[in-house]
Amino acid sequence: MLKFTLVMMIFVYLICETHSNQMGWGRIFHGSNAPFGRYPFVVSLQEKGIKASSCGGTLLSSKLIITAAHCIVHPYWEGMIAVAGTVNAENWGKGHQTANIVKVIQSGPFPVEDNVNDLAMAVVAPDFVETDFIKFMPYHRISVNINDEVEIIGWGIINESNKTVSILQYAKAQVNDFRICSAEDAAHEVFVCVRGNIRPYTFPRYGDSGSPGLYKGKIFGVVSMGIPKGDNGALYAKLSYHHHWIERILKKYKYTQLKLRTNEGIRHSGPIWIVAWFFCVFSIIE
Ligand SMILES: *[C@@H]1O[C@H](CO)[C@@H](O)[C@H](O)[C@H]1NC(C)=O
Ligand SMILES: *[C@@H]1O[C@H](CO)[C@@H](O)[C@H](O)[C@H]1NC(C)=O
Repeated sequence: MLKFTLVMMIFVYLICETHSNQMGWGRIFHGSNAPFGRYPFVVSLQEKGIKASSCGGTLLSSKLIITAAHCIVHPYWEGMIAVAGTVNAENWGKGHQTANIVKVIQSGPFPVEDNVNDLAMAVVAPDFVETDFIKFMPYHRISVNINDEVEIIGWGIINESNKTVSILQYAKAQVNDFRICSAEDAAHEVFVCVRGNIRPYTFPRYGDSGSPGLYKGKIFGVVSMGIPKGDNGALYAKLSYHHHWIERILKKYKYTQLKLRTNEGIRHSGPIWIVAWFFCVFSIIE
């Protein structure tokens, strides 16, 4: 019987690293600067007051952001904000809007074995308002197949030097066999392995977590995890796996006003950082 262990590293941003000069975690490997307004539905999730991106997310409505569950774990999300309408994570510029995360809705228990539920929604307040540079992504159930060309986006590291840049990066990539992600054991119905097939290879890394993968302009998944070695691709958590959950949440928040009590849900957790969450290593055992 084959039995093997696959160690997966979740590409969560090391918030503590932003305080050290040694390393920052800045963007998609071998991507290009995203022009302002090209991805108006992409938001940067940040620790309040830090002005550096910890994760990406996608606006599905004025108050709902879909991202990776590991990006908005309790209690860190209470100290996080979402920034929309900018490609620059440090210098937001004219036209940006910010909102507090007031609630997190997980797609299921997380963390859990096989990491099947690395998808969550952040509910924000105040509502984001659509402008020329801020748009909500209409949700459609999307499925992708091997060799499909997709777009990858994120504020994660850009190269082996772990170099940080502040401008959102984007690149073309392909849906690949799980071998390309060294993740033959990953749950195929839950994840998609993504990497560009042309050198220099494009793929997501640290800091890209939660950012959308797009197929024909529609979101099919969010950057979840991978083995950050060599030219490995990375795994996106597929939205289609949680399609009914997404529809339920969208419906609920379309018709129900979130009862906001100004101070609730935005309690400061203080500078308590659980290191385990900054550099998560999970074992997937089959
Ligand atoms: C990483 O990117 C930075 C910024 O573009 C560049 O200065 C540096 O030489 C690159 N390092 C490597 C190892 O490619
Ligand atoms: C970049 O980060 C990875 C992961 O922590 C580490 O293994 C690698 O040595 C770092 N590279 C540099 C040049 O700092």
